[in-house]
Amino acid sequence: MSTAPGVPGSPTPATGPSAAPGGTPGGDAGTATAPAPRRVRVQHLREAKEAGRRLTMLTAYDAATARIFDASGVDMLLVGDSIGDNMLGHATTIPVTMDELIPAVRAVSRVARRALVVADLPFGSYEASPQHAHAAAVRMLKEGGANAVKLEGGRRIAAHVELLTGAGIPVVGHLGLTPQAENILGGKRVQGRGNDAADALLADAVALADAGAVAIVLEMIPEGLAQRVTDRLAIPTIGIGAGAACDGQVLVWLDMAGMTDWSPRFAKKFGDVGAALAQATGAYISAVHDGTFPGSEHTYQS
Ligand code: KIV
Repeated sequence: MSTAPGVPGSPTPATGPSAAPGGTPGGDAGTATAPAPRRVRVQHLREAKEAGRRLTMLTAYDAATARIFDASGVDMLLVGDSIGDNMLGHATTIPVTMDELIPAVRAVSRVARRALVVADLPFGSYEASPQHAHAAAVRMLKEGGANAVKLEGGRRIAAHVELLTGAGIPVVGHLGLTPQAENILGGKRVQGRGNDAADALLADAVALADAGAVAIVLEMIPEGLAQRVTDRLAIPTIGIGAGAACDGQVLVWLDMAGMTDWSPRFAKKFGDVGAALAQATGAYISAVHDGTFPGSEHTYQS
């Protein structure tokens, strides 16, 4: 079990579920012995910031892992376009389409009982206009079952965020290294260095918050800038490579669990799932080869 903070219904809350303000019952029906955990909803994000409780977010792309992360108490599940380079064999997130992402969003939404499910809008699905973003976001909620969408960009997409928010679609912003723009940013590099770049990023963050964003992901920016943004906004900042000053953290689950050979400097490996999977696979192959699997306990008799 994780040491998830006291956001509603967390399995191991630091301060107990009773400390959670304003929670409402989860969408799934509970049983007498196992009541449904209370859903994390958008108001809880701001409440967590106000109470100084750090938020957790992990990516998820399928039901099997989403179920584990949700039961462990993660506050938000991000069905990220990082599905492209982590699951679909693409080199970047750029080729990911709505039709590839929606089934993953649907799988995660079906099993998430507590976590807020955030769906990325993939490259090419939202930039052209607020109406373009609205059409994509509606699909993520109606077809995917997501609770919120995430868009990359700042002042450029503030009107998009305002339209979505007004239409009842919670938006998570994403600033700093925005991987969909890596061609123009010159690769995966730290952003917001220097006074002008830092001021521009802060102005972007304020514009997103003013437009109604419920949280902002800050990716690969200096710690001091993350602190400035976090101090300035009433909504939570969720950092990835942005240091400890953020109101919460997000990681790609394959980096977090040790499923990849390479991971970025900011991604701590909290487990060695890749090695465990390789070991189990090797044991299975050996058992089939040497005839010890299947045994009589795995075999049906007439
Ligand atoms: O798609 C993704 O995984 C993301 C995270 C890096 C925040 O956007």
